[in-house]
Amino acid sequence: MSHFIKSFLGTQDLQTAEIFELFSLAQNFKTHFLTHGQFPLQFAKKPLMALLFFEPSTRTRLSFEVATLRLGGLSTFFDGASKENTSLIKGESLEDTFWTVHAMMPDAIIVRSGDEFPLHSLRDRVQCPLINAGYGTESHPTQALLDVFTMLENFSEIKSKNILFIGDIRHSRVVGSHRELLPRLGARIGVVGPKHLTQGLESHIQVMDKLEDGLKWADVVMGLRIQFERHGSQQEFSRENFIRDYQITKKHGELMKEHALLMHPGPVNWGVEFDPSVRELKHFKMWDQKSNGVFVRAALLDHLMKSFRRGNGF
Ligand code: CP
Repeated sequence: MSHFIKSFLGTQDLQTAEIFELFSLAQNFKTHFLTHGQFPLQFAKKPLMALLFFEPSTRTRLSFEVATLRLGGLSTFFDGASKENTSLIKGESLEDTFWTVHAMMPDAIIVRSGDEFPLHSLRDRVQCPLINAGYGTESHPTQALLDVFTMLENFSEIKSKNILFIGDIRHSRVVGSHRELLPRLGARIGVVGPKHLTQGLESHIQVMDKLEDGLKWADVVMGLRIQFERHGSQQEFSRENFIRDYQITKKHGELMKEHALLMHPGPVNWGVEFDPSVRELKHFKMWDQKSNGVFVRAALLDHLMKSFRRGNGF
């Protein structure tokens, strides 16, 4: 890959050809790992990845750590979501926390934060690659990449595919990243959900009134976690009405196209956006997404480390 990239803060940081090269590398990692139980290559040095997470995470954190370790690197984790055991409890700012970690000279910093963290302003000031591991309600670019990688494992191409997102579009950083990535790859986006959670989207995004219409239209159905913690004092959301109008159950599999995929970035509020019976559907691909998170993030880390070294002439 010839494009020089120092940081990955959004899907727009990668050229389209570069994304497909990244997917080839991720596929190579996956195939080799499933055949030989190890990755086909290791980092040239033993880079230290510093994970700085100001919000909780299971999948993203662990898949970055697993990817790093499988590639022969090291990782260290700052748990800023549990303030009690850090100097955040003493009033240290998020930005000072970031620069404290940065001063310890890790080889990359992987950050998860809320919208209040000045992520984008750090891009030109950091001395190592900076990676967005989920930023407020704005973006979650590595999730979008692993989602598309999972789609491509099932379809030969993403062009002209219909991707339906259900539910809490308004607070979904995953949708935020897909709004940039999917149209660029030629896919169409549709959404369905309560009106107050599906407003303010680009005109090319199809807003469906009924779940059934969306399910018949979609090649990929993506459930989203209702982000209760971001709803604040909004009283508009009715759990009962949501379950009645938008919850996916096994029965909905009958409306989906034969080849359609049912996905979810996780974590799932079981019994809200998905009924547990959906796990029996052949369409259900959520566990593949979790496995693929490791391979796609490993490919991204490998790409970034090489690109950063090239950009610095070493
Ligand atoms: N999908 C996702 O970002 O999950 P985590 O919050 O557990 O990392």
